[in-house]
Amino acid sequence: MRLMVAADYDRLSEKAADLFAAEVTLQPDCVLGLATGSTPVGMYRALVDKARRENLDFSQVRTFNLDEYRGLAGDHPQSYRYFMEQQLFRPLGMTASQTFIPDGMASDPDKEAARYEAAIEAAGGIDLQLLGIGGNGHIGFNEPADHFPVHTHLTALTESTISANARFFDRMEEVPREAITMGIGTILKARRILLLASGAGKAEILWRALYGPVTPQVPASILQLHPDVWVIADRVAAAEIAKREKLPPQHEDL
Ligand code: PGA
Repeated sequence: MRLMVAADYDRLSEKAADLFAAEVTLQPDCVLGLATGSTPVGMYRALVDKARRENLDFSQVRTFNLDEYRGLAGDHPQSYRYFMEQQLFRPLGMTASQTFIPDGMASDPDKEAARYEAAIEAAGGIDLQLLGIGGNGHIGFNEPADHFPVHTHLTALTESTISANARFFDRMEEVPREAITMGIGTILKARRILLLASGAGKAEILWRALYGPVTPQVPASILQLHPDVWVIADRVAAAEIAKREKLPPQHEDL
């Protein structure tokens, strides 16, 4: 694992955008795994700016998002499809045939999950997967549980995730309670993983995920077993690690 500590959120976002831009430059037909939430917003903005400045070509790139809420159509402003279209796909000129997100409106979510898993396989697997980390340690919507779910699946969101998501909805009843998410096995199959963590609220869970026991109660802890994980944390998100651990030799300050 390679840990980078960024001075602040802007620096974290720039560095993450650099890594994604490099992937696209080196392999124009790469397959990217993408994430939603507040954390990647700055990175997507930086990547769009960089793509314009440097004329990066995304025409052969394919993307797979981690998850989508069940019951929200792609044109719902809180759906992850809508978020991605606004933040990244439209600004980069990427079309629907290049960008994959589970269909939250599928009448048979189990079938949709299996279809999504197969589509990732058919694309040759994910080259670089972006992840955020939930305050409860979730990656994608793999919530704390007594086992690691393997494949893309329909999942019930925990109360802590539902409350964390409530800030985006007008009324509590509107907050989705289920999602289709890549499984832990799906995520671990990515050839390289970039985990971003920003803000003091992530300090404790980031330390537990990276230095604590590998347990499905902290789903992100499984990343300790992946051979090629990069983590970029801003200084406040890395504070608990800095306090409790010797930063690993590969760590670098940005
Ligand atoms: P956040 O969400 O980026 O909005 O903090 C991260 C996550 O839940 O994975």
